[in-house]
Amino acid sequence: MYQILRAEELADNIYLMEVEAKRIAKACSPGQFIIARKDDEGERIPLTICDYDREKGTITIVFQIVGASTQMMASLRAGDSFQDFVGPLGCASEFVGEDLEVLKKKKMLFVAGGVGTAPVYPQVKWLHEHGIDADVIVGAKTKNMLILEKEMEAVAGNLYVTTDDGSYGRSGMVTQTIKELVESGKEYDICVAIGPMIMMKFVCLLTKELEIPTIVSLNPIMVDGTGMCGACRVSVGGKVKFACVDGPEFDGHQVNFDEAMQRQQIYKTAEGRAFLKAKEGSSHHGGCGNCQ
Ligand code: NAD
Ligand code: FES
Repeated sequence: MYQILRAEELADNIYLMEVEAKRIAKACSPGQFIIARKDDEGERIPLTICDYDREKGTITIVFQIVGASTQMMASLRAGDSFQDFVGPLGCASEFVGEDLEVLKKKKMLFVAGGVGTAPVYPQVKWLHEHGIDADVIVGAKTKNMLILEKEMEAVAGNLYVTTDDGSYGRSGMVTQTIKELVESGKEYDICVAIGPMIMMKFVCLLTKELEIPTIVSLNPIMVDGTGMCGACRVSVGGKVKFACVDGPEFDGHQVNFDEAMQRQQIYKTAEGRAFLKAKEGSSHHGGCGNCQ
């Protein structure tokens, strides 16, 4: 069992939990995810790690209520436990393995949308701890939906907060702020965009025009997170990839977002899943080889 040491509601329907998971905390890196399951009745929920404390042996997760299992998870309090808490899974962010001196010369821009602010935080924190201060744009629908602002402020070089309705910070979507920063003379070698699929699609369309290489995290299309269900199948540069096994981070300019978002809709029903399995054959699963 994995005990919850802290449980907080960050915003409407968005929860933060700090969970005791010593082995994961020791081994994880920014960009990786865990799978949590409350009990035998609960679904497995893949969640990108929001923070980790190697000394305390804890992992912090942030999730939004989107269905019955996340609703049940949200009812847990400090002192309660998860039955399963598995990880670290997926590949770490690419920059973690880069030569630090090369990395220090790069100008990095992080674009975080809504709940996607949680997986951006450990990346910006890691860079800050290694002497690199990146620019960060955080976008939320409205002031009340903004999360982790203080935490991000403490680790970002420059933090630009924007709300769609202009109720706090700058006004407009994250793409508006990217344009304004570039028009004001800012130059970036790389952009990392994490948030809803539609946001990542439009950030990538813009950064392609601006010629800024862009990494995205495809956690939103995962279902079981184990490479077996076939939910997170995505075309990247014309090749079949699985977000949970090959990612979750990919070159955003190579991701076929329209296909991924359409597939996400089809996958929601049993009929849709049967259709995809028939259409995709042995490439439907993430390599389990048991499609028959
Ligand atoms: P949201 O709908 O409030 O959007 C967040 C921000 O994204 C907006 O404020 C806006 O600035 C930007 N945005 C949205 N649509 C845009 C568009 N068409 N063009 C440009 N910018 C746009 O976000 P939310 O409700 O917090 O999102 C929840 C989603 O985030 C879920 O689908 C969840 O799966 C996803 N999510 C993704 C990750 C990840 O790893 N990519 C992690 C956690 C959550
Ligand atoms: Fe099921 Fe990736 S989430 S195969």
